Amino acid sequence: MVIMLDGNDLLLTRPVNAQAALRGLLKKYIFGIVAGLCCSHGRDSMKAAVYHKYGPPEVVEVKEYPQPMPKDDEVLIKIHATTVSSADWRIRSLSVPTGFGLLVRLAFGIYRPRKPILGTELAGEIVTVGKNVTRFNVGDRIFAHPGSRLGCHAQYTTLSEDAPIALKPTNISYEEAAALSFGGTTALDFLKNKGRIQRGEKILINGASGTVGSAAVQIAKHFGAEVTGVCSTTNLEVVRSIGADKVIDYTQEDFTHNGETYDVIMDTVGTAPWARVKTSLSDHGRLLLVVAGLRDTLLAPLVSRGRGKSVLAGAAKERVEDLRFLAELAKAGKFKALIDRCYPLGKIAEAHTLVDTGHKRGSVVIRMDSDTDGAAVQG
Ligand SMILES: NC(=O)c1ccc[n+]([C@@H]2O[C@H](COP(=O)([O-])OP(=O)(O)OC[C@H]3O[C@@H](n4cnc5c(N)ncnc54)[C@H](OP(=O)(O)O)[C@@H]3O)[C@@H](O)[C@H]2O)c1
Repeated sequence: MVIMLDGNDLLLTRPVNAQAALRGLLKKYIFGIVAGLCCSHGRDSMKAAVYHKYGPPEVVEVKEYPQPMPKDDEVLIKIHATTVSSADWRIRSLSVPTGFGLLVRLAFGIYRPRKPILGTELAGEIVTVGKNVTRFNVGDRIFAHPGSRLGCHAQYTTLSEDAPIALKPTNISYEEAAALSFGGTTALDFLKNKGRIQRGEKILINGASGTVGSAAVQIAKHFGAEVTGVCSTTNLEVVRSIGADKVIDYTQEDFTHNGETYDVIMDTVGTAPWARVKTSLSDHGRLLLVVAGLRDTLLAPLVSRGRGKSVLAGAAKERVEDLRFLAELAKAGKFKALIDRCYPLGKIAEAHTLVDTGHKRGSVVIRMDSDTDGAAVQG
């Protein structure tokens, strides 16, 4: 008997009933091997929020999904809390700043999402370590920022031990720890590494009530800056409460017309481009564009040339040392993630809907352990 491979089909030369029997046997055999491999690696299932096409919050569904297996240099993390971030909204809906559409499709899937599980940050516990792992132990309580690697909207994920992972401060909850890194690392990278913020400098943060803005207010205060926060009327009090020295209600006042100048202006909204704010920058002022279209990002080093001022844009880096720094601040009570609402995993589509408004107050947290059918709970 000859077995020939024709594409994916097996062609057999014996009579049809013998072929069918053999096909059945082969199927059983192959299925047995696959199932055996899964079982021998303890491959269980988990609950995860998955999406298979770009679109509105409804494309996200909570389903059973195979649990990932850690490689030799990886840890398996049981996730207790995560967030739906503005990055999840942008990737899920392809609502990206002008010019980035094709780049985002190339990174995350041209026609449909390549990675079906979103989620950029987490807090949880290490439950398995690969045989080459030396930095972490089973039982370590951690928070992490996989960022564009995604995968946090699930009960388990794996990460290399070299990924941005840090021990969770013992004095904060998993929910608070889960919301430390997306805003915290972005604010830190822009303020410290790109903006080189100095003690005593005047800084204005546009979008001070969002995840990045609220982290930036607290981190800028930690570095000794004098902070002005720009937000809407309903958020004035909360922005004051996290440390802003002054607040400006953008529905009532245009900060570019108040005669003030700032050493640093950080735009987390996309409404403070160079052309609008250049006269509000002091002589050596820096404009930090956390959000910008592709053209403004590419032109950032050029537009301010020869004027003593600078424009800095681009993606924030995800660094282990920044997570450790944020953990120290959180432990000392100097940085507390602002949390808008907490939802159970089963209500994650509702969480996406809130994030899509562009008006969440700080972070939107997902609790993995709570009843997946339970109601959204106020954070
Ligand atoms: N470059 C990077 O690496 C990087 C990293 C992280 C995030 N990002 C981007 O940064 C942006 C902010 O992220 P996020 O997570 O902080 O978003 P977010 O939590 O949704 O915050 C947006 C905030 O903007 C405020 N806002 C809306 N319109 C405003 C206006 N006209 N003037 C002033 N404030 C206004 C809202 O406050 P009110 O409700 O008071 O209006 C809201 O709190 C997103 O576009 C995200 O894609 C970039």
